[in-house]
Amino acid sequence: MRYKIVAGNWKMNLNQNQATQLTHDINKYLSNNNLPKQIKVVIHPPAPYLANCVNYISEDNNTTFGVGGQNCYTQASGAYTGETAPEMLKDIGCQYVLIGHSERRKYFNESHDFLAEKVNKALETRLTPIFCCGEALEIREAGTHEAHVETQLRESLFHLSKDDFSKVIIAYEPVWAIGTGVTATPDQAQDMHAALRKLIANQYDSNIAENTTILYGGSCKPANAESLFSQPDVDGGLIGGASLKADSFTEIISIMMKCLAS
Ligand code: PGA
Repeated sequence: MRYKIVAGNWKMNLNQNQATQLTHDINKYLSNNNLPKQIKVVIHPPAPYLANCVNYISEDNNTTFGVGGQNCYTQASGAYTGETAPEMLKDIGCQYVLIGHSERRKYFNESHDFLAEKVNKALETRLTPIFCCGEALEIREAGTHEAHVETQLRESLFHLSKDDFSKVIIAYEPVWAIGTGVTATPDQAQDMHAALRKLIANQYDSNIAENTTILYGGSCKPANAESLFSQPDVDGGLIGGASLKADSFTEIISIMMKCLAS
């Protein structure tokens, strides 16, 4: 199902009080604003705060507002010190999990195969994977960005059956735009999202491609959200910096509502 999604990736930021307050403020905003069913809001707090944040989502918002892990491991339990099982995320009420964020790929050397295993495990646990892909600046400058992102999908997602693939959300995040203040232009985002949709149509079928939610991430903020979200193949955003404050994050949600209505 192709949803419009505004997801906040808090990364390794905030303390417990701030995380609670932010969740409370977003929940309040959603209670006061009737979001169309097609829009989903997701937050990805740091692991120690996840369970607490889940508890701050009121019942009236529990179909709209979801919580996700920023990462998970490939096993259900065992001697894996420091890791979090998808089953544990599920157990505390998470619905989503980020997989393959560029910071995980870069700082923790996560390989295509490892990410494929995480995707499998998340799906087995009935968590929705938000699979991140995107190219570094030198790849963009060399003009091989589409081939690069294609490889990321091919190696970590295209082993999935049609049924499983249709449960995955994709986030295109050019690495050069993450946390830099430099955003991809709406045309650059649209071109890549359209290329991804075409790739998915070729690998699976056009119906699956049309129904895949593809988010843009990388310095997305209130000032540029409208121009990005109004692109036909951009289904929302994975927001880092601008998701750490309730006013900017909820403003992005309101921009999504406006784009959907127009
Ligand atoms: P940013 O981060 O919005 O701060 O660029 C996005 C992300 O890394 O998901």
